[in-house]
Amino acid sequence: MFNAASLLSALVLALNVAASPVEIRAPPVTLPFSKRVNSTGLLNLLENDLARARALRAHAEAKTSGKRAVVSFPVTNEVVSYIASVGVGSPATQYDLIVDTGSSNTWVGATKAYVRTSTSTQTNQRVSVTYGSGSFSGNEFTDQVTLASGLVIPSQSIGVATRSTGFEGVDGILGVGPVDLTEDTLSPGTTTTIPTVTDNLFNQGTITARELGVFFAPTNTEESTNGELTFGGVDNSKITGTVAFTPLTNTSPANEFWGINESIRYGTSTTIMPTTAGIVDTGTTLTLLPTDAFARYQSATGAVLDRNTGLLRLTTTQFANLQPLTFTTSGGSFTLTANAQAWPRALNTDIGGTAGNVYLIVNSIGTPSGEGLDFINGQTFLERFYSVFDTTNRRIGFATTAQTNANTN
Ligand SMILES: *[C@@H]1O[C@H](CO)[C@@H](O)[C@H](O)[C@H]1NC(C)=O
Ligand SMILES: *[C@@H]1O[C@H](CO)[C@@H](O)[C@H](O)[C@H]1NC(C)=O
Repeated sequence: MFNAASLLSALVLALNVAASPVEIRAPPVTLPFSKRVNSTGLLNLLENDLARARALRAHAEAKTSGKRAVVSFPVTNEVVSYIASVGVGSPATQYDLIVDTGSSNTWVGATKAYVRTSTSTQTNQRVSVTYGSGSFSGNEFTDQVTLASGLVIPSQSIGVATRSTGFEGVDGILGVGPVDLTEDTLSPGTTTTIPTVTDNLFNQGTITARELGVFFAPTNTEESTNGELTFGGVDNSKITGTVAFTPLTNTSPANEFWGINESIRYGTSTTIMPTTAGIVDTGTTLTLLPTDAFARYQSATGAVLDRNTGLLRLTTTQFANLQPLTFTTSGGSFTLTANAQAWPRALNTDIGGTAGNVYLIVNSIGTPSGEGLDFINGQTFLERFYSVFDTTNRRIGFATTAQTNANTN
């Protein structure tokens, strides 16, 4: 029988066939990366996250109000970073780059000097990005970028810093946020965007979907290689169920970033946060809620605010009674167990806390709900759920992993 839905699917099928007569089903290509904890910086854990949240908002405001002169991008988190080793040039020099879904310029040269090879071409453009507490400026080049074997971009536009602040111990950023975040970073040529590595891998046919899969795992050591970026799809060996997608939010300013709508519930029925817009961010460590939701969480858990760490603290009895915290998108529900809500106890003293205490990874973003970027699902959330950033279909997905219910803290 004829109906609109079947006609539509037939059309889509026909278009797909016409567009790619030979479909190459390459397995998604992956890039391992490591988590690095800066123990001297951990005392500033919360302040770092809050500075980043403020900078994200400031960036969006500057953009909306047309203030093109100052582009304020998210600050990099100096405390807990996910670092990928990326090759630039031929032969390649390896640079340690922060994997950042909250910004989209890729650049090197903060610590290790850029080494020019025959694949390096300097453009006539300057590049400059101001992060919340840090910045870089320099020259834009095109060069060969090697993310992993089989994941080579012959001509990637990259920044080469001549000046940078706030990037001690790393060489720059691998920016995998939405491409629009690169607007206004080049001069001359202020209205153009710079294709991200994901865009280029797709445009050159290396990957068949503009999709990025991110796998983090919780650790209680200061450095470990336990993360993985997958370009072009999902690494099915890392997930235990299916990926549940939700569309990118329309709400500003969360829609400038990888933003979604989400609600949060404590236990079976206590609403902590009614549905609102926020972002998913690999550069934020904690999971941040609007002040009103944070107050509800504190009251539901009975936690006290610990002055030394800035985090919520529980007694062991309260921790034993801590209920699951469930994040719900239009795609599905994702539950942080009690263990997943706790900061790794092995790192308690690094954050100025006391060994044996229980501190919580949920904190306040510092502003009430209703401001358009109300929450951040940070690393502490992403270490429990595989995340998928899908540019083509404008959506974000989460899936459970072997770490979702693991007792690691
Ligand atoms: C570690 O944190 C300290 C204090 O915030 C900071 O000065 C230093 O640059 C950081 N080191 C790295 C490698 O990020
Ligand atoms: C998200 O929430 C906003 C505000 O309630 C709503 O307008 C929008 O339709 C929701 N969904 C998306 C995909 O933005």
